[in-house]
Amino acid sequence: MKPGTLDVKTPILAPYGARGLGYPLAHNARSKRNWASIVILPSALAIILGYITFIAHHDTSHHDAPTTVTADNRVAKLPVMGYNTWNAYHCDIDEDLILETAQLMTSLSLADAGYTHVNIDDCYSERRRNADGDIVEDATKFPSGMKVLTDKIHDLGLKAGIYSDSGWFTCQLYPGSFQNEARDAKRFLDWGFDYLKYDNCAVPFDNITRENIMGRYERMANAIADLSQLSGKPPLILSMCQWGREQGWTWARRYGQSWRTTDDIDPNWQSITKILNQNSFFTWATDFYGHNDMDILEVGNGPLTYEEAKSHFTAWALMKSPLLIGTHLPSATEETIEILTNPEIIAIHQDPVVGTSISPFRWGINPDWVSNNTHPAQYWSGESQNGTVFMLLNTLDEPADMFFRLTESPWIRAGRQYSVRDLWTHTENGTAVRNFTAHAVPPHGVVALLLQDAGDEPEGLWPPCAVLEWCMSANGTRFDQ
Ligand code: GAL
Repeated sequence: MKPGTLDVKTPILAPYGARGLGYPLAHNARSKRNWASIVILPSALAIILGYITFIAHHDTSHHDAPTTVTADNRVAKLPVMGYNTWNAYHCDIDEDLILETAQLMTSLSLADAGYTHVNIDDCYSERRRNADGDIVEDATKFPSGMKVLTDKIHDLGLKAGIYSDSGWFTCQLYPGSFQNEARDAKRFLDWGFDYLKYDNCAVPFDNITRENIMGRYERMANAIADLSQLSGKPPLILSMCQWGREQGWTWARRYGQSWRTTDDIDPNWQSITKILNQNSFFTWATDFYGHNDMDILEVGNGPLTYEEAKSHFTAWALMKSPLLIGTHLPSATEETIEILTNPEIIAIHQDPVVGTSISPFRWGINPDWVSNNTHPAQYWSGESQNGTVFMLLNTLDEPADMFFRLTESPWIRAGRQYSVRDLWTHTENGTAVRNFTAHAVPPHGVVALLLQDAGDEPEGLWPPCAVLEWCMSANGTRFDQ
């Protein structure tokens, strides 16, 4: 029990429990104060107990971040990059596959590009805990044991991730961690894992949990924090997988370093635009140490075209989602690797100075703020340590010219001009003065730009304000009417 929750009330309860109840009644049985003892004391007691109950109830409905997390032991300041087994393999995993994946991460230069985690998803364990109550790795799939595997992963210079669930079972009905949080966190740490993805299936009955999703994740967050304090090791990175339920983006930062914002991704354009649309409304929630998780990448999978895969990757990266590769690496094409390792996009994703996401400044096809799963917002911008980032997304099924005025973005200064760097063609595209047009953006394609301040714009441009609203000369002449 954490300080600040029920336990703190124990000292208040104890005196009443020990003395207050029995002592005055017995002592006063034959005294003049008998009446007072019978009527007033119980009433007072009832009020006090009522108050305590209220406080207790009040307190348990609060969810606090683990108190053992301090500025010194925080992990995953930047969104995690790595591999996750689910999209490519589902339950069809074993130690050879994980090891081969880890080796490919190195030989395909993915590790050099920043992909440092190899994360095992659902289906790695036996269906039942062992006699001691511990989760055990599947003896056929992982005959060498998890510790041997994580040692090998670490020897490659990579980190290792594991998976569990905040309910009775995982989504594929392997053991979950509910009521075993401390035991399982320790197991995962002893196995050598650095990271835990924590799912949201097999929810126990309400009369057992007396909790909501937040409370079930708080249990594991506390276990991880306590274990870190006890072991002196960094806490497991907690990747919360509650699919956007209960608006995780409003509270999950207390407990973990990322939280899923949406349902499971599929390898098609409809799924990409749907996730993008939903996430466009809470980009503000992402910053250092806590990230909206838009789900495992589908780059290299299904019917996604080259342009669509680029758009998908660009959006996930610039919105600072964890980037977890989810494709079959032995057969990954050059195009797939090229997309996944674009150094200029990754530099923004891993910016150590600016942790925030890009956000829409104009929706485009739709009026601003319209939610549309087929046509999400098209014009986005955000800060980076090296300049202002722009993402233009053509959600149409045909090529389109995409035009914007620079000052539509809040990160652009009026009266300045900007050099334009294209983060996909890796070329300088001249100097933008007031406006920019990307010509013939392919269907479902993306343009990603980095604009850097290049000094004052040329003298004498007309009108005197790029943003005309209430534009006025010093002598009071208005220019917007
Ligand atoms: C889902 C989760 C997926 C995957 C799967 C495993 O709930 O969103 O990413 O982990 O469970 O069963």
